[in-house]
Amino acid sequence: MNRLNLFRNPLNRWLGREEARPTVPVKELRERDRRRMVRHFLLLEGRDRVLRFGSLLSDEQVTKYVAGIDFKRDMVFGVYNRMFRLVAVGHLAFAPREPAKEGVTAKARVAEFGVSVLKSARGLGIGSKLFERAGIVCRNNDVDTLYMHCLSSNQVMMHIAKKAGMAIEREHGEADAYLKLLPADPSSVMREAMQEQLATLDYALKANVRRATKLWERLPRRKKPDNS
Ligand SMILES: CC(C)(COP(=O)(O)OP(=O)(O)OC[C@H]1O[C@@H](n2cnc3c(N)ncnc32)[C@H](O)[C@@H]1OP(=O)(O)O)[C@@H](O)C(=O)NCCC(=O)NCCS
Repeated sequence: MNRLNLFRNPLNRWLGREEARPTVPVKELRERDRRRMVRHFLLLEGRDRVLRFGSLLSDEQVTKYVAGIDFKRDMVFGVYNRMFRLVAVGHLAFAPREPAKEGVTAKARVAEFGVSVLKSARGLGIGSKLFERAGIVCRNNDVDTLYMHCLSSNQVMMHIAKKAGMAIEREHGEADAYLKLLPADPSSVMREAMQEQLATLDYALKANVRRATKLWERLPRRKKPDNS
């Protein structure tokens, strides 16, 4: 199957409309997705694992990282392909807000974003879409700075950061990228809600297709009559 077809919007295909880029439904992940997240991260090998985590974490450390994600504090997003595999994960970790002191305004609230897309799904705009969603969620959660740490040799991520208008500070082969965000407005709230609703529908559809396929595969096959 053409890998682009994994994310094609069936409605556009039916209408015969060309899509510049496939639709990417970004879904918020929860507790129940932990196992799939572990599977996703374990598929990142060598350099990709270094780029995502800053060092070559062992499988055990990756599993620990996922087990340590606090879904009450942070937000995690994912993208599923047609085969219901989690091909991309974005983790938005909110830093605790420092309480305002007398006569001093409260400090800016910051969130850090980390993202990974499996090799088979790269170049389709998924990484950018996850980043865009993180920005909207930050705005809607009163976060004014979105932060990302990566190696400055990570040209793809540097490209995404520059495209989003991030300020980048490079030092000793590493880069810190900051994006100042506008406060929430009705359109940012609406966009987040609509994206999540679309992704929830997409998720339910893919989960049902997956369940039906499994069931079909388990059905006993009728034996062909023996004509000999
Ligand atoms: C970085 C990563 C998340 C990007 O995911 P992706 O889904 O392929 O990204 P997108 O398709 O949204 O965008 C890729 C962009 O980089 C551009 N690009 C591709 N190769 C490039 C290169 N060598 N140099 C510069 N830009 C490049 C593409 O043209 C595209 O830009 P466009 O949208 O303006 O056309 C993915 O490569 C990945 O998981 N890497 C390993 C982990 C990692 O580096 N994480 C980031 C640190 S937290």
